[in-house]
Amino acid sequence: GVATNFVINGKDYLVPMAIEEPSVVAAGSHSAKLAKSTGGFKASADSSIMRGQIQVTNLLDIKNAMRIISRNKRSLLTSANSISKNVKALDLKARVVKNEIDNGKILVAELYVDCKDSMGANTINSMCELLGPEIERKTNGKVILKILSNYATERIATSKVTFKKEELGGTEIVDRILSAFAFAFSDPHRAVTHNKGIMNGVDAVSIATGQDFRAIEAAAHAYASRDGKYRTLTTYSKSSNGDLLGRIEIPLSVGIVGGISTVHPVAKMGLKILGVKSASELACIVASVGLAQNFAAIRALATEGIQKGHMKLHAKNIAVAAGATGKLVEIVSDTMYRQSNINLNSARTILH
Ligand code: MEV
Repeated sequence: GVATNFVINGKDYLVPMAIEEPSVVAAGSHSAKLAKSTGGFKASADSSIMRGQIQVTNLLDIKNAMRIISRNKRSLLTSANSISKNVKALDLKARVVKNEIDNGKILVAELYVDCKDSMGANTINSMCELLGPEIERKTNGKVILKILSNYATERIATSKVTFKKEELGGTEIVDRILSAFAFAFSDPHRAVTHNKGIMNGVDAVSIATGQDFRAIEAAAHAYASRDGKYRTLTTYSKSSNGDLLGRIEIPLSVGIVGGISTVHPVAKMGLKILGVKSASELACIVASVGLAQNFAAIRALATEGIQKGHMKLHAKNIAVAAGATGKLVEIVSDTMYRQSNINLNSARTILH
């Protein structure tokens, strides 16, 4: 589907979404429409820094190995930077991780790479694989893993939005939404479902534009647990005049060059529909769609529930599956909905 009404940082967007739940596209578009009257979403994204990790074991003197890595930083970075013309390793740091299996220590050499407009996985992995043997030789240790970290804590996107209380149906609705947020913020069982609603939007745009949505998912859930408890990726509060303020903060490793985003015809089309010029612009859109999706879900849940909207759209799918076209889709689906009998047989009978 294509979600409509999105205004992000003052620019209008049509947002391609690949998802099996039609209500997600409808709900996101509706939230975006409500956000229009306050100027839409205000979003920003960090620069595109990702980490590559090289695990070094079997070291007699871990502190000395750290010194060796630090002393050889320049030449190691020069080697890493032979891999790509555009994506550049900016820094190399060594840190010690406590081995929680045997209480020992693991040395990790971390490359900080500016992925610019790419997601960066292939380049970072190649850099790490190139540096592995060099680090092994220099430290006299044994290098095990050489791989990027998908936990993109240096690639955070944020988006903010204001919904006017009058447009939401008044103060009581704002308070009900805030109460729903407080529940999700405080209880991981609810927070997971709340964040699932965010990922309905994030994944759908990511898939439609050829992103690695599993990497985004994994990072998002780790980030949701960053204070030691699994919490919501969005927060809500009330402005001084009683409007609802929403905010999302989420790691997003997305790219518009490299990977399949510039090869796969559907991903190319998705990026063309969006008309994005940079990975950070895409990150701003993905974060805003996640926020819009989450707002739509908790607003529905805090008021009439989600089933009404879901079942109406489901009835349309069934009507189409039964062979309805044009105006008949509406007629068949409305009849099934009114009769509370939404299935293929009923659609065929009504159509007949
Ligand atoms: C359904 O796909 C998503 C929701 O469950 C999200 C939520 O509960 O916040 C409606």
